[in-house]
Amino acid sequence: MFIRNAWYVAAWDREVTDKPLPVSLLGEAVVLYRQSNGSVAALEDACVHRKLPLSMGRIQGDLLECGYHGLRFDAHGACVHIPCSDRIPRNARVRSYPLESRYGLLWIWMGNPALARTSEIMDVAHWGEPRWAATHGDSMTVDCNYLYVTDNLLDPSHVAWVHPSSFGDAACEATPVQIVATDTGVCASRWMSSAEVAPLYRQFVRFDGLCDRLQHYEVRFPSHALIKAIFVPAGAKSEVAAEHASAFVMDSYNFLTPVDQSHTRYFWFQMHNAGDDGSGDATAALARGVKGAFEEDRVILNAVQKSFDRTRSGNIDIAIDSAPLRFRRLTKKLLDAERSVVPVSSAEALPN
Ligand code: FES
Ligand SMILES: [Fe+2]
Repeated sequence: MFIRNAWYVAAWDREVTDKPLPVSLLGEAVVLYRQSNGSVAALEDACVHRKLPLSMGRIQGDLLECGYHGLRFDAHGACVHIPCSDRIPRNARVRSYPLESRYGLLWIWMGNPALARTSEIMDVAHWGEPRWAATHGDSMTVDCNYLYVTDNLLDPSHVAWVHPSSFGDAACEATPVQIVATDTGVCASRWMSSAEVAPLYRQFVRFDGLCDRLQHYEVRFPSHALIKAIFVPAGAKSEVAAEHASAFVMDSYNFLTPVDQSHTRYFWFQMHNAGDDGSGDATAALARGVKGAFEEDRVILNAVQKSFDRTRSGNIDIAIDSAPLRFRRLTKKLLDAERSVVPVSSAEALPN
């Protein structure tokens, strides 16, 4: 039901401390733990003996010790110690997952480890550049299938109704979107001309009067979104508007990790060029504003899932659904292709 040969975000790197951290993704239980050299290991969260979650155990040096009878596992999932026994059965191992720390996030590969390439982790433009700042980033769980979230992230129109006090303004109700599908995902975008600067962005925009505004809503496979906003003075929209001397640019990175069919872990941070004065105030204000808006999305998405679950009547699609529907169709194709090549049942242990 989920694309497995892909990188997903398992957690913020900072969330993994001196205790094992349980996370659930793609219907599987995984435990993360930090080794003495600072790197993080990811193992199946079930002891090979009596299946106690290993996250209930403790870290012993570079090993993870089960909290029931003390079996110890290394970062590759191999059992290396059984109390009161000299013999360790060959099949005494749990699955381990490729893991990479990047952008402060821990990226996990849930599919065939032989196919994991860290070069395929989504690139974050301007990361570490002096003129750009990144928000601290945050996460939340949304009680819905991840495809309802990708629907939302390919739908610039909803800001007019869901986020009128932050991202939205009247121009967002009427301007049509252009849709482009590529090998990497789907993008819905539009330039709005001579529009008001939407409420959240007023404090960051460095010019007076009306603006031209780009909304670029792009979701890449399996479920990672780049939501780009560009504001330039009215009349200045162009292909290279981001380079305009007065441009305010915000790149919002949104990483969705399906927990199961009806829950999604949502991680995000934003890059912006608002030119913080060193206090971090602008970045913190942006982070607060974005989080408030995402909470508005969560209310809607939780209610959508609940309503689909309890309603037997059908639903319709309208013009604004083109991008979300295209993304769903392409996802299904990828899923079918993956399933035809690799056994993807969670019960089927892939080689470590
Ligand atoms: S259940 Fe883990 S050691 Fe027994
Ligand atoms: Fe939204």
